[in-house]
Amino acid sequence: MANLFSIPKNIVTGAEALQKSMAYIEGYGKKALIVTDEAMVKYGNVGKLTAALDGIGKKYAVYPAINTEPTHAMIDEGVALYAEEGCDFLIAIGGGSPIDSVKAIGAVVANGGSITEYAGKKIELLLPRLVAIPTTAGTGSEATKVSIITNTDTDVKMLLSDPKLMVDLAVVDPVFTLTVPPAVTAATGLDALTHAVEAYTSVKAFPMTDIFAVSAVKKIFANIQAVYTDGSDVAARGEMANAALEAGIAFSNSSVTIVHGMSRPIGALFHVPHGQSNAVLLSVCLPYLKPGAVERLNDRAHTAGIAEPGMAPDEGAEAFVAATLDIVKSLHVPSLQQLGIQEEDFFKAIPKMTEDALASGSPGNTRRSPSKEEIESLYRELWASGA
Ligand SMILES: NC(=O)c1ccc[n+]([C@@H]2O[C@H](COP(=O)([O-])OP(=O)(O)OC[C@H]3O[C@@H](n4cnc5c(N)ncnc54)[C@H](O)[C@@H]3O)[C@@H](O)[C@H]2O)c1
Ligand SMILES: [Fe+2]
Repeated sequence: MANLFSIPKNIVTGAEALQKSMAYIEGYGKKALIVTDEAMVKYGNVGKLTAALDGIGKKYAVYPAINTEPTHAMIDEGVALYAEEGCDFLIAIGGGSPIDSVKAIGAVVANGGSITEYAGKKIELLLPRLVAIPTTAGTGSEATKVSIITNTDTDVKMLLSDPKLMVDLAVVDPVFTLTVPPAVTAATGLDALTHAVEAYTSVKAFPMTDIFAVSAVKKIFANIQAVYTDGSDVAARGEMANAALEAGIAFSNSSVTIVHGMSRPIGALFHVPHGQSNAVLLSVCLPYLKPGAVERLNDRAHTAGIAEPGMAPDEGAEAFVAATLDIVKSLHVPSLQQLGIQEEDFFKAIPKMTEDALASGSPGNTRRSPSKEEIESLYRELWASGA
């Protein structure tokens, strides 16, 4: 079977990546709309970007309103500002939220309508040039053809996936991640780990995606605790930034599976940060998917150095699941209960969450494809586990 592998046209990584990227940005247009959040302004990241743009005489306007996981109203506002300011290309600086927003704004600028009409549709016309500068090491959105926007009218986190959503330039400089607080470091790092594990165990995995998924798992196992305990560890931050990029490349081409499928509805209805809802779901989803992915999880146990000589494949797979769940535990991710979600509300939402999870198509990529009843039961198990 033939497989398409897509990545951004240009990726600049490492120290001074921002400066180096100006050689590309120079030719991208007359005026950029910078899509970001207030925290990026406060931490001086937007200032670093605008200083670099001033250095090449490039004009810009700043849209700093993507303070949470993005909604369709935030996209509408960004589209209006782009036109008002006479912009002709887009730069995102921030976590996955501003990067997903830049793709959505670009899609609507080029194709019209409202972003709420884009779910499950092919994007017809090419977007303006897009630049993504991640400041978290998590989503990998800088290298994916995916954008996730919440339609607040229907309470659905829409999964938009189209090769036209791939950015032209990804600028991955770990210096931008040094200020990420521990709880966000944990959630975003576990999002990247989930991408890598799901990409590797997806039914759509192929040799090119395996290379990136395996490399990401190795880096994350070796560095996630270091960045959580010491956010100023530049070397470990660099490894995590590269791992998030690799995991993004992997899943963008081979798809996520049951964890992300079940996670988006929790995020949409209960406003749980994306990485946290993935992390809690790992405790029920990894044991669920394991029987369909024994060989692949066993491989990972070997790569991560946790398989002992002579272990049977099933024991290796179990060791990998246990080691992953130990990592989640060590990073103190809050449970759904600790996040203040009420039992009655959660159980009432299970039918909608199940329907939305299945409608996204992600659970169907799992090597053990879940039925509606199984997903409902996994949500119940998740609540009972107190994870
Ligand atoms: N497009 C994709 O391929 C893809 C993949 C996974 C997740 N997502 C989406 O990405 C979104 C989540 O992105 P995220 O996890 O990066 O979080 P985020 O962008 O929502 O940021 C989380 C918090 O961290 C803060 N922050 C970001 N960078 C910081 C820094 N350097 N220093 C201090 N604080 C910083 C932000 O201000 C915000 O408060 C979700 O909507 C999720 O669904 C997209
Ligand atoms: Fe994710």
